[in-house]
Amino acid sequence: MAIRTILTMDDPALGKKCRPVTEFDGKLADLLDDMKETLAVANGVGLAGPQIGILRRVAIVLDAKDNAIELVNPEILEQSGEQTGLEGCLSVPGRYGTVTRPDHVKVRAQDRHGNFFEVEGEAVTARCFCHEIEHLDGHIFVEHVIGPLYTTEELDQIMSEGEG
Ligand code: NI
Repeated sequence: MAIRTILTMDDPALGKKCRPVTEFDGKLADLLDDMKETLAVANGVGLAGPQIGILRRVAIVLDAKDNAIELVNPEILEQSGEQTGLEGCLSVPGRYGTVTRPDHVKVRAQDRHGNFFEVEGEAVTARCFCHEIEHLDGHIFVEHVIGPLYTTEELDQIMSEGEG
């Protein structure tokens, strides 16, 4: 396994529409393993192919129990509800913004062997599914932020005000 370099927003790879995975081979398994390791080291909750320069429809999402869900060729089948909250991205380091997302989504994807499965997520996990899947179409959360982008310091202040 290897840790891959996470690209930032100014890299053209982040704006590309990714192609479907068609080969479910050892190379895909290595890629998914590398993505999981890279995500763990970066301390994130999700990572998509283009963030490491791979223009294929692959993503990792951590669920509410911190299990890494491997998504190959994922699509959102159903979505419902609405949540508005703060969001960040490993490719937009130190910047956070408010984004409205569905509160519940059902996703259909393939695993590393090509088997189809469905997985549901709500709250933060639903947000993460939407965020990672839009990366595969070349979109980043900053495109639909409501209001300003906050710095880490501003975010800390907002969080502490929220607690008080
Ligand atoms: Ni992201």
